[in-house]
Amino acid sequence: MELERLLRSQGFGSKAECRSLVAQGRVAIGGQVCDDPFADIDPAGLRFTVDNAAWSYRDFVYLALHKPAGYECSQRPSHYPAIYTLLPQPLRTRNVQAVGRLDVDTTGLLLLTDDGRFIHTYTSPKKQVAKMYEVTTRHPVDEAQVAALLSGVDLHDEPRPIRAAACVRLGERQMRLTVTLGKYHLVKRMVAAAGNRVEGLHRSAIGDFALPTDLAVGQWRWLEAADLAQLAWRR
Ligand code: URA
Repeated sequence: MELERLLRSQGFGSKAECRSLVAQGRVAIGGQVCDDPFADIDPAGLRFTVDNAAWSYRDFVYLALHKPAGYECSQRPSHYPAIYTLLPQPLRTRNVQAVGRLDVDTTGLLLLTDDGRFIHTYTSPKKQVAKMYEVTTRHPVDEAQVAALLSGVDLHDEPRPIRAAACVRLGERQMRLTVTLGKYHLVKRMVAAAGNRVEGLHRSAIGDFALPTDLAVGQWRWLEAADLAQLAWRR
């Protein structure tokens, strides 16, 4: 693939922008500057640098982000910055999207990708992907609330009671709740319907993939083959 086209596919800008990046000597492969935009490069397993920052060629981008509070999962945020501002420009140019949304005040694991099939699979109610949340509540958590969440609570606009896939009390005002749906304010509404109120919400895992403990708030990292296997993802 021509280097100019390859860079374009990886989010480094328009054809003209990629051509000029290369011509200016800002792109290196195997430590050697390549200033020919038309050089024929095999993209498979390619590692390259742009302005000394290392990149790998990827057909699709899959990321985990440790979402901070105070960021909106929207491309056109209204009151807070978008989570996308936490990503480098090439990923934003590739139109990476959040897989489902977290509320502005929710923290924790968010997956992002430019693979429409991945988004569809992990947001489809059919797939029943488990999402685990650590919940801090305003009032003490009691066994009746846990039982109600496990047997199913009635929510406005929902034809049937919604059940937690798992729920355990972790402390006086703390519970761990797992849900398989992805509806607006779902955990907050479920906890309210069980007679309590969410004061803090943190997503700690999606499927078998837990938020990496070394991923600081506001940081992102690539999902590699082993991570995608934990998410049971195969293209
Ligand atoms: N449920 C909520 O209420 N909010 C979130 O951000 C995620 C799940």
